[in-house]
Amino acid sequence: MTTSRADTQPNSAQLTSVYDGANPRVVEMFDRISGTYDRLNRLFSLGVDRVWRKSAVRALQLKPGMRVLDCSAGTGDMSFEAHRQCPGVYTTLYDPAATMLELADAKAKKLGITTYDLTCGSAEKISVADEQYDRYMVAFGIRNFRDLGLGLRELHRILKPGGCGVILEFTPDRSAVIDRLFRAYMWWVMRPLGGMVSNDREAYRYLAETIQRFPSSTRLLEMYHEAGFSRVEAVPLSLGIATRFLLTK
Ligand SMILES: C[S@@+](CC[C@H](N)C(=O)[O-])C[C@H]1O[C@@H](n2cnc3c(N)ncnc32)[C@H](O)[C@@H]1O
Repeated sequence: MTTSRADTQPNSAQLTSVYDGANPRVVEMFDRISGTYDRLNRLFSLGVDRVWRKSAVRALQLKPGMRVLDCSAGTGDMSFEAHRQCPGVYTTLYDPAATMLELADAKAKKLGITTYDLTCGSAEKISVADEQYDRYMVAFGIRNFRDLGLGLRELHRILKPGGCGVILEFTPDRSAVIDRLFRAYMWWVMRPLGGMVSNDREAYRYLAETIQRFPSSTRLLEMYHEAGFSRVEAVPLSLGIATRFLLTK
């Protein structure tokens, strides 16, 4: 199998990680920690990530027949929530890390979901023609883009006119007290515990560091406008620990 800009594969076909466009070190890191990713996600968020995902998918107002790109899909939880809320949607689970998508594939089969495909690729080079998708979603993914501006322009390009996308991300717009507590939790709990359970200290240091130095919601809103989105809105979640952005083309 060749790996060019991106590989679109039918379910169950062998997937190949894509390093073109993405940061190879980041992709390799997610391939390495994929086995413990879901367990640690639930543990560190105390299950709150499920609530955030539900609210993000609800904001998309999905309808049967819609095509949805799940960019940075990882192990697929956003797509599965989309299928739960609207069984008639078609999702493309899109991510450069093949091992993450293989786990997503296994989960989809267990859930009996059939209307999806798996595509290895980076946000910076989405190998899809213009205006193919009604919706997109990116949960905790934009922090990993090598070039955020380029990735956002690509997401705008593949969206149909009038379509919209949702972005979920940790943002530093919390009150001073919550920010201090959250930073302490990340640095003293998530980073060492994640490193120990996944046996990958570098990965959990990277995750904690990128969360800490990510741009504010105000800067992100400017970047969404610069990428071409006509309407953008931000809703803080759980005292501003994360933010849900809705971007309309
Ligand atoms: C923190 S995980 C989020 C996975 C999933 N969306 C979730 O909510 O659990 C981030 C994902 O971003 C992917 N990623 C890394 N670099 C990327 C890039 N340049 N473009 C798109 N996705 C990327 C990783 O492979 C990883 O699966």
